[in-house]
Amino acid sequence: DDGPPLVVISNRMPDAAPSGDARTRNVGGLVAALEPALAARGGLWLGWSGRARAGQHRDLAIDRSVVPARASFDFEPRWHELYYNGFANRSLWPLFHSLPERARYADDEWAAYVEVNEVFAEAASRVTSRNGTIWAHDYHLLLVGAALRRRGFTGRLGHFLHIPFPPLDLLETMPWAPEIVSALLAFDLLGFHTRRFAANFLACARELAGAERIAEDALRVQGRVVRARAFPLGIDPAPFESPEDDEGVDEELAQLRTAMGDRQLVLGVDRLDYTKGIPQRLEAFARMLELHPALRGQVSMIQVAVPSRSDVPEYAAQRAAIEALVGHINGTLGEAHWVPVRYVYRSYGRTHLARLYREADVALVTPLRDGMNLVAKEFVAAQDANDPGVLLLSHFAGAAEEMRAAALCTNPYHRDGMANDLARALAMSLEERRARHAELLAMVHRTTSASWADAFLSALEG
Ligand code: UDP
Ligand code: G6P
Repeated sequence: DDGPPLVVISNRMPDAAPSGDARTRNVGGLVAALEPALAARGGLWLGWSGRARAGQHRDLAIDRSVVPARASFDFEPRWHELYYNGFANRSLWPLFHSLPERARYADDEWAAYVEVNEVFAEAASRVTSRNGTIWAHDYHLLLVGAALRRRGFTGRLGHFLHIPFPPLDLLETMPWAPEIVSALLAFDLLGFHTRRFAANFLACARELAGAERIAEDALRVQGRVVRARAFPLGIDPAPFESPEDDEGVDEELAQLRTAMGDRQLVLGVDRLDYTKGIPQRLEAFARMLELHPALRGQVSMIQVAVPSRSDVPEYAAQRAAIEALVGHINGTLGEAHWVPVRYVYRSYGRTHLARLYREADVALVTPLRDGMNLVAKEFVAAQDANDPGVLLLSHFAGAAEEMRAAALCTNPYHRDGMANDLARALAMSLEERRARHAELLAMVHRTTSASWADAFLSALEG
């Protein structure tokens, strides 16, 4: 009965297929954070292989050549449809991002969600001891703690939510809200990116599951104590501060510089997701060119949109909307010698991304709602401190709770406001840019992915 000291469970794991197309490599904050955070820790990371194949899910593929070791299994095709594309990404994702009009609720998708959480719990039970430590991640696995307890697991159980936790008024629109909140109370420690999200959870637990608040960050439920608080996630700044040498990337950056000439560069980097506010940002950029005609021909925007969840209809629709809008803006405002918006539907590797961040004068990080947003922190780490770019950050990114004072903040729901904030960012003096950047960089160094994992795990085990 002696399993590994720590088992980490998440739906997504690092994209295993180096043979696959680099342009479509899956990316996301969860893997970006866990990979460096767990690299020195040992233990086992359990998750989905990324494949859907019938009848294979009991086969755990174990890879001990990496730290931590990884165990993965294939989904039944039905789970990929109903649990991943369905309940996780069409019910929980929009609702937890406070977009209830995008959420839909289907009983068969909920049933598959319950089933897959049981399957994860079963797999975890096979690779851990009864009194080990298990750390589960994100909205795919809200029920796994309760499922593990039913299997007799008596060790420490933690959960970290990488997306927002919505306020009670919104959560209540989910038919299974009480079941979800009660299941979350099977964990010993619940982590959120911000104090706001933790407070939302604490209020929902009281209202929907009858938990008693016994401290600022603690509840009592059926004689047990459950703690819930903010552990803001950070990045590993090193690879963004000093990216590796790469001739291919050098070459592409040189070509970009030639194409840009003296123009200023505004950059957006996101998974193609409707929570990221990409159409709103494009509208604001176009509006800025209308309000400040002197900027025409003087500035270009690059929007990197990484393919994500493309089987989900709302994502396909968002892609079509973005592509139509880019065409419209370039057609109506561009000139034969100047393209206002360059749009790339692809994924970049870290070195390439770091160099692109450094090239930009302004980063537009303007989600409608976001758990944290690591791109904001990576952009800061990648800047030249002597001549740094400006971070234009949405009030509604979790990162704003820490970065609000030093970043330029904007409201993505207010097109004219965002247009003017962008013009202000483009005109900001060197002195002001340096002062803001120094403050942001100090913050990015204070909480990293490693210190985040340390803080969570010592709270869980302490
Ligand atoms: N990313 C990447 N290649 C790209 C675009 C993004 O590797 O072409 C990474 C980026 O470096 C960041 C992550 O994807 O670490 C996105 O995380 P974030 O928290 O910003 O948003 P999420 O995708 O989790 O919603
Ligand atoms: C967000 C979620 C992660 C998820 C990532 C990429 O960061 O919080 O759980 O892994 O997006 O999405 P995907 O559906 O490709 O895993």
